[in-house]
Amino acid sequence: MLFGHELAWKEQDIYDEIYENSIQNFNEFWAFHSKDIAFSRQPSSIFDKATGKWLSGAAGNICYNCVDKHAIATPKKPAIIWHGDLPGERELVTYSELLNKICSISSILRLSGIKKGDVVAIYMPMVPDAIAAMLACARIGAIHLTIFAGFSPSALAYRIEMSNAKILLTYKKASRSGKTIDLLGNCQKALSEIKGKTPKILVLDDEDIYLNVSINRDVVECDSDDNLFILYTSGSSGKPKGIIHSGLPFLLYAATTFKFIFDAKSDDVYFCTSDIGWITGHSYIAYAPLFQGLSIVIFEGNPTYPSPDRYWDIIENESVTLFYTSPTALRTLQAFDENYIKSRDLSSLRILGSVGEPIDEKTWNWFFEAVGKRRCPIVDTWWQTETGGIILAPLLDLKRQKPCVVGKPFFGIAPKIIDAKDEFSLGRLTITNKWPGMCSSILYECPEDIGACVNIFNKNYLKDGLFLTGDGAFYDTDFDIKVTGRLDDVLNISGHRLSSAEFEDAINKVRGVKECAIVPVAHEIKGQAAFAYVVKSDNVSDEELRNEIASALRSGIGPIARPDFIAFVHDLPKTRSGKILRYLLKDIAANKQCTIKDLSSLCNKESIDNIMAETRRCLNGI
Ligand code: WTA
Repeated sequence: MLFGHELAWKEQDIYDEIYENSIQNFNEFWAFHSKDIAFSRQPSSIFDKATGKWLSGAAGNICYNCVDKHAIATPKKPAIIWHGDLPGERELVTYSELLNKICSISSILRLSGIKKGDVVAIYMPMVPDAIAAMLACARIGAIHLTIFAGFSPSALAYRIEMSNAKILLTYKKASRSGKTIDLLGNCQKALSEIKGKTPKILVLDDEDIYLNVSINRDVVECDSDDNLFILYTSGSSGKPKGIIHSGLPFLLYAATTFKFIFDAKSDDVYFCTSDIGWITGHSYIAYAPLFQGLSIVIFEGNPTYPSPDRYWDIIENESVTLFYTSPTALRTLQAFDENYIKSRDLSSLRILGSVGEPIDEKTWNWFFEAVGKRRCPIVDTWWQTETGGIILAPLLDLKRQKPCVVGKPFFGIAPKIIDAKDEFSLGRLTITNKWPGMCSSILYECPEDIGACVNIFNKNYLKDGLFLTGDGAFYDTDFDIKVTGRLDDVLNISGHRLSSAEFEDAINKVRGVKECAIVPVAHEIKGQAAFAYVVKSDNVSDEELRNEIASALRSGIGPIARPDFIAFVHDLPKTRSGKILRYLLKDIAANKQCTIKDLSSLCNKESIDNIMAETRRCLNGI
């Protein structure tokens, strides 16, 4: 039975045959691909229906699979090529050097008392040491929790406290657009906000911590349900949730999707512009590409600093073959003079990828023509932190390229669009079956209470056995899937996933604010921007309150949470039971007409005229 083929993700007929086989015989399909992994103990079953567990009985080590294996076979091959904030700042780390870095960090962690199952927080810039730190945790069975270095001390404190991290790994500083970010200072501030026990800080760019450390090269054997990492992400309600992934099943899914969808070969040079603070930086920077033994290019800076040709310069100089980026970055770059890109030789490129948010047609066409010169297929990959790896992506077939279509389900994935009027209408995207990349659990509020966490997971994500993605989608006439974005209260600002609840929490703490509601509005560059509707409690001036709100968001979440619009209104639209009708505000902010049906559940109809007037004032910048 066919489970793999060189043309599996290229030719429709071969894709169809493997897809059918993978759905009918999904145990055999995943057993076939799990042979790529070096286990120290083979799995006794692939998927155990009774327990819901993948690769039961198996054991192995993720770091061994991603690094040691290549450090033995191809020690001199570049593993990571780093480019810094300024052009010319470059560091090349071979597989054998990467292994040395990892073993130094894992030895320091061991010396600090870290054992299998302990949580280690990582708050670092995009440097080779950050990836080495993740793999060092994997090596000793510790669970890593990376926190995006753009998050504020308060956001960092919340994540550390909730996950009970024992160590916090950081750098003294990060450089971005010529500015220095005081990471160590942020860590110290974060710890001062934590009430209970605080983790010890280890500064990895401080040479002294490596002195007198005897390097231990052992790897710890991990079972298939031992956890590899926690990553916080925003849900449709409440505070960010810690999504937990177990190691071996996650690796199986990330590596198999990467192999097919990016047609990854060991001589590829792969450049992904994401950050280790997000899931893409886990699945498709730290794990799958290294597992396949590729050379990966990482970039610490800003694509437009000091000039908007940083990506093109890196692609040209490193002969990048696979380039994976975000619609926001592309929207920003296409606004600049075309000579920045025309003067560069991008002929090494083979495949282009996009992730994080819906890509619009204009940007897709520019990506295809200006960057790929109509030679490179674009994979618009749809997935989530929870899914561990890509769920939907178009085939790598130049003849069948269509803008903005995420296309086909990955092998072994059976999606279903529910609540749609008919076959081709917008509905809710769900997944009907199980796959190895699915997160194993979540951490929320009371991490010790596993039962409560399981309940929250079930309530948030499952309905009648279906996995609810929270996104809207529809089929086009070729039965390819198009995803339109979130249907719930999650905002997607520049590909950063933030919930309205997080914004509202931070704003409600400001003196002078009685209540507020946040909704997304379309934004030319960022995809979405935040529109804040605020009811005042005191007679504070608009200007003063605007500044207070902006600073509360900066310190509560981080610079990414800058609100683009703040409207001061008399009242928020509510139901009789006091629930804020955000969808009404969303329509008003998008300049859509409210229908009578919308207004029928509204108990304070008189609020609407004032909200509409203030929205217009705000959008017109008056
Ligand atoms: C959105 C990022 C349209 C979607 C990997 C999803 C996309 C959320 C796409 C997950 C895409 C991601 N087209 N929308 N190709 N990729 N999204 O957890 O709304 O940070 O639910 O994972 O991003 O964001 P997360």
